Amino acid sequence: MKTVCFGLQWGDEGKGKVTTYLSKEYDYVVRYSGGSNAGHTVEYGDFKLVHHLVPSFDVRKGVKGYISNGVVVDLNVIDKEIEELKRIGFDISSKLNISAFAHVVLPVHKILDEKMELVKGDKAVGTTKRGIGPTYADRVHRIGIRLADFEDKYLLAEKFSTINKIYKELYDIEWNNYNSVIEQYDRISKLIISPLEMKKDLENSNVLFEGTQGVLLDVDMGTYPYVTGTFCNTTGVESGLGYKINLDKRIGIFKAYITRVGEGPFPTELFGDEGEILRQAGKEFGATTGRPRRCGWLDLPLLKYAIEISGCDEMIMTKADVLAGMEKIKVGVRYAINGKKIEMPYNLSKIDKAQVEYAEFKGWNSLEDKEFQKFVEFIESETGVKITYISTGAKVDQVLT
Ligand code: IMO
Ligand code: MG
Repeated sequence: MKTVCFGLQWGDEGKGKVTTYLSKEYDYVVRYSGGSNAGHTVEYGDFKLVHHLVPSFDVRKGVKGYISNGVVVDLNVIDKEIEELKRIGFDISSKLNISAFAHVVLPVHKILDEKMELVKGDKAVGTTKRGIGPTYADRVHRIGIRLADFEDKYLLAEKFSTINKIYKELYDIEWNNYNSVIEQYDRISKLIISPLEMKKDLENSNVLFEGTQGVLLDVDMGTYPYVTGTFCNTTGVESGLGYKINLDKRIGIFKAYITRVGEGPFPTELFGDEGEILRQAGKEFGATTGRPRRCGWLDLPLLKYAIEISGCDEMIMTKADVLAGMEKIKVGVRYAINGKKIEMPYNLSKIDKAQVEYAEFKGWNSLEDKEFQKFVEFIESETGVKITYISTGAKVDQVLT
């Protein structure tokens, strides 16, 4: 069985919790995209983990993790996450591998990320400043450093020196503390394997591919240019691994409302007190940057778009429990753009001009209430996709099936 579990919105849908819950049915959980911009919070009950790079496999079970070449790796972050797990009693060093073709996030990438945002001024994307965009860009510029490059220290020194020259000439950024990166590499080098070794392991295994961010932040199909630097759609699985993967199931995760961090269009956004109520109830603050997330009502035209381009077969709804106790719940059902009614946008470039038409639901006190059932049935009938699980709380095992 090969399944992908991915975000249908702008990230932070609860992918970490859901992936961890589902992972016990699988041999591997594989990250295929993103980097340490991702912040996957998993509450086990006795302890809580915030993953940035370690895949969200249940650390209490026999599941293994793999970081593929579609991921950009900050060596310091991965090392710290592994150490933190060890400190609380989970040694995952025999359960995690990283592709030798994965690109490394260097200090220059983080500096450039920050500088680029500053220069863009009011056109800034609102990135996490984790160096994600610049690392992917250097991969395409063909000056990136891959984990495999550390095997030959002489060639590595040449590559570092090229980066040094380019960053100085083009961006006025000075960096030559190569040794700190080499030391970080040495600490995790035992985890590195070739992409084909991993392919062999995955071939006859049950694999759960874990998405990062969400379809609406996909570098091509999201709200460009307010997107991340990678393919967060389900299409990222094959490009992230570099070989053919036959997926059996695509499970899309969505929140009962919607949030985004950073800039970009957001048709159903709530401002002032209304937004603040959702933010506080859902603890909507970035797991990576601590920034307050922008909050709004569920947006069906965007959900339909995300389903359309991802091939989503089933959905999991999270955080409906957060809305419990509210008198009225709204759902954006249709847009009007320049007077034209739209059920699902074909192009996200004009959604900043959308006037949103809402449907209103009577609130629920518990997820057992018939009012909540109506909300679920409405989303299923509008999208044509079944909701197979409902998350009922932050903890891994709080799930209605
Ligand atoms: P998870 O996996 C929510 C957003 C940033 C910014 C844009 C580009 O936890 O859902 P980047 O640093 O990637 O170049 O920033 O993407 N972003 C996320 N928003 N959840 C995430 O990850 C995100 N990763 C990046 O806020 O708007
Ligand atoms: Mg997150």
